Amino acid sequence: MEKIIDESVQGNSLSLKKDEKNTRNLYIESYGCSMNFSDSEIVASILANEGFNTTQELENADLVLVNTCSIREKAETTVRKRLEKFNAIKKNRPHMKVGVLGCMAERLKSKLLEEEKIVDMVVGPDAYKDLPNLIQEIDEGRDAVNVVLSKDETYGDISPVRLNTNGVSAFVSITRGCDNMCTFCVVPFTRGRERSRDPQSIIDEVNDLGAKGYKEITLLGQNVDSYLWYGGGLKKDFDKASEMQIATAVDFANLLDMVAVAQPKMRIRFSTSNPQDMSLDVIRTMAKHDNICKHIHLPVQSGSNDILKKMNRLHTIEEYFDLIDNIKKIIPDCAFSHDMITGFPTETEEDHKATLAVLDYVKYDYGYMFAYSERPGTLAARKMEDDIPNDVKQRRLSEIIALQREHCLLRTKNHLNKVQEILIEGTSKKDDTMWMGRNSQNVVAVFPKENYKVGDFVNVKMNDCTSATLIGEAVDFGKSN
Ligand code: SAH
Ligand code: F3S
Repeated sequence: MEKIIDESVQGNSLSLKKDEKNTRNLYIESYGCSMNFSDSEIVASILANEGFNTTQELENADLVLVNTCSIREKAETTVRKRLEKFNAIKKNRPHMKVGVLGCMAERLKSKLLEEEKIVDMVVGPDAYKDLPNLIQEIDEGRDAVNVVLSKDETYGDISPVRLNTNGVSAFVSITRGCDNMCTFCVVPFTRGRERSRDPQSIIDEVNDLGAKGYKEITLLGQNVDSYLWYGGGLKKDFDKASEMQIATAVDFANLLDMVAVAQPKMRIRFSTSNPQDMSLDVIRTMAKHDNICKHIHLPVQSGSNDILKKMNRLHTIEEYFDLIDNIKKIIPDCAFSHDMITGFPTETEEDHKATLAVLDYVKYDYGYMFAYSERPGTLAARKMEDDIPNDVKQRRLSEIIALQREHCLLRTKNHLNKVQEILIEGTSKKDDTMWMGRNSQNVVAVFPKENYKVGDFVNVKMNDCTSATLIGEAVDFGKSN
């Protein structure tokens, strides 16, 4: 689930330990990015205090919540299909209530109540603390909506319950919202302005996870490198901060350092980095601490300067290459992954070739590649015609994917014949005599179980590989245990 959009977890329902005092059943299903999965844990935590136990059986639910994604049209279509399914169940269970959370709730607001007749409640990503009141409203037979975006909500004071956890890795959110206004992206509209969470509440949460036996955390935000704490408030208001606030401000490099020092035995990852906001201080902090994993998710979206400009990505491709080169100088074994969009308005074959050239230059370890999907309300939708035919988008996309696949194999092969520390996450999906875990670079490795257990750090000798998986054998316990 470290990825941006992990196809294998889309639509997962989440459950936790039953509290005997609670009498109603909540079914909560999540789509989209890691932040949504993390938010669902906050929602479940709030509702556990309101008399709800989680269930994985839709047919037993008294309240069904779906945490939605708006990033591409397909994400919204999937949710609408799920709502049809909920409708069929509701016919036999008329008291069952249905609520839509997250980005689709924010984007469509009360329109969702009109368009989707079965929806009783619409709650945007900054309004989850209002859920107790909203649930009371629907209990009394009224529809309920809260889509107010906040200047300061970070849910820093809510200790999220961990849903469907392996007890090894957890997400910790550090920023909410995004100020970047990439012209294709709906996130700034659905998740609001950027704000950072109090570092002390982050450290407390990380320490609590450490005490509970977790071994790896991923710091989450739409743009983690932009993290800036100066006592609260929006990032854009930093220019109004007092001298004292400026002198004591905490940026992302400081935060990473604090987290790495607080839990030296824990692995630390972060996602997502925006090239224009990533500082070399962050890279130096990564280099300084063994427990900060050597992998950066660094979306680029296109290789063409013309397209980058039209996307309002605030860097050129040359600046991006400089950043990659500098990172490699400081951390030679750093792995990179990317997000790429093909078929943005006006994209020519030349632009497309420039994108392929970026893949060739960086040779990413892996990537997430998408055909451009026009999102209502974004600048691109308002100002640019979605003029690349679907078959061209699909052909370009398959060329990008094919090249990326070659690079995946190339990068995975680099780890062969080395001994690397793997954190065991669980049993391999394909073979239950093998453990599955990852190395620092986030490459999956499998190896025979022997007497090791979930959560152990194990030194594994890498003997073989497929394009995305290393196959090895345990040598001994790793030093991070
Ligand atoms: N900064 C965020 C980005 C979230 S969206 C984060 O990574 O946390 C994830 C990816 O979806 C983007 O990087 C982009 O590649 C893709 N994406 C966003 N809007 C899109 C659109 N309109 N069409 C196609 N892909 C899109
Ligand atoms: Fe979206 Fe760009 Fe922010 S992709 S989430 S507007 S960095």
